[in-house]
Amino acid sequence: ARQFFVGGNFKMNGSVETIKKIVGYLNDAKLDDNVEVVIAPPTLYLLLAREHLKPGLQIAAQNVFDRPNGAFTGEISVDQLKDSNIKWTLVGHSERRTILREEDDFVAAKTKAALDGGVSVILCIGESLEEREADKTIEVVTKQLKAVSDKISDWSKIVIAYEPIWAIGTGKVASIAQAQEVHAAIRSWLKKEVSEEAAEKTRIIYGGSVSEKNCKDLSTQSDIDGFLVGGASLKPAFVDIINSRL
Ligand code: 13P
Repeated sequence: ARQFFVGGNFKMNGSVETIKKIVGYLNDAKLDDNVEVVIAPPTLYLLLAREHLKPGLQIAAQNVFDRPNGAFTGEISVDQLKDSNIKWTLVGHSERRTILREEDDFVAAKTKAALDGGVSVILCIGESLEEREADKTIEVVTKQLKAVSDKISDWSKIVIAYEPIWAIGTGKVASIAQAQEVHAAIRSWLKKEVSEEAAEKTRIIYGGSVSEKNCKDLSTQSDIDGFLVGGASLKPAFVDIINSRL
C-alpha cells in the first residue's frame, strides 16, 4: 500500500514568529504515524523550520533551479538544498507555471536536476478552469507528465500533486468524483507510459482548497494518496488534515 502523504505549502506567507508557531503546532500534535508529512515554508525560513521541526517531519523547498551553481541571481540549487539538509522540493506549482511563466520543459528540467542530485520532488500538475470547461483536463495533465517522463525514467522519488487551478485558494474544492477521476487517469497514464510498478507505487495527492471539513471524504478514494495543502497548512486545522484517515 502507498503511504499517505500530506504536504503543507506555505507559499509566500509567514514570518520568523509565525513559522515557529506553525512548527510548534506540528511538534506538539498527535499525528498519525502512518502519514508522511512535509512542509514547504518560503526559502528564507527553510533552515529555521529545519532547526525547530521535530525529527520525522520533513521540509521541502517551494522551488529549485536546474543548474548546479553560477550566475543565476535569485535562484537556489539542488546542492544548496542538500547542504541545508532539505530533502524535498516542490516543482511546477501552478503559481510558478502561470505567474512566473514556467513551461513544461523547464519544470521537467528542474525535476531531473532535483532527482539527479538526490532531492525528492513533489511534482505539481493541473488544469485551468478554461481547460476543464473545454474537456481538456486529462490532455493537459498528461502533457505535463510527458514532459517529465521524456527526461527521467525513475519515478520512485516523485510524488505527483494534482492541483486543479480553479480549486486553488478559491474555496471551490474538486468533488470527490472529479478528483478521483483525474487521479485514476494519471495512474493509468503511469501504467501505460512508465511501468506497472510506477503506477502502483507513485503517490498521487490532491491539492486545491483542502480543509479539515472536506479531507476525510477525499481521503477515502482509492487513488487519492494524500494532499497538498495551501491556506489550511498555516493553521492548526492542518493537523486534522494530516490525521484525516484516523
Ligand atoms: P489552497 O489549499 O490554499 O487552495 O492551495 C492549494 C495549493 O496550491 C497547494 O500547493
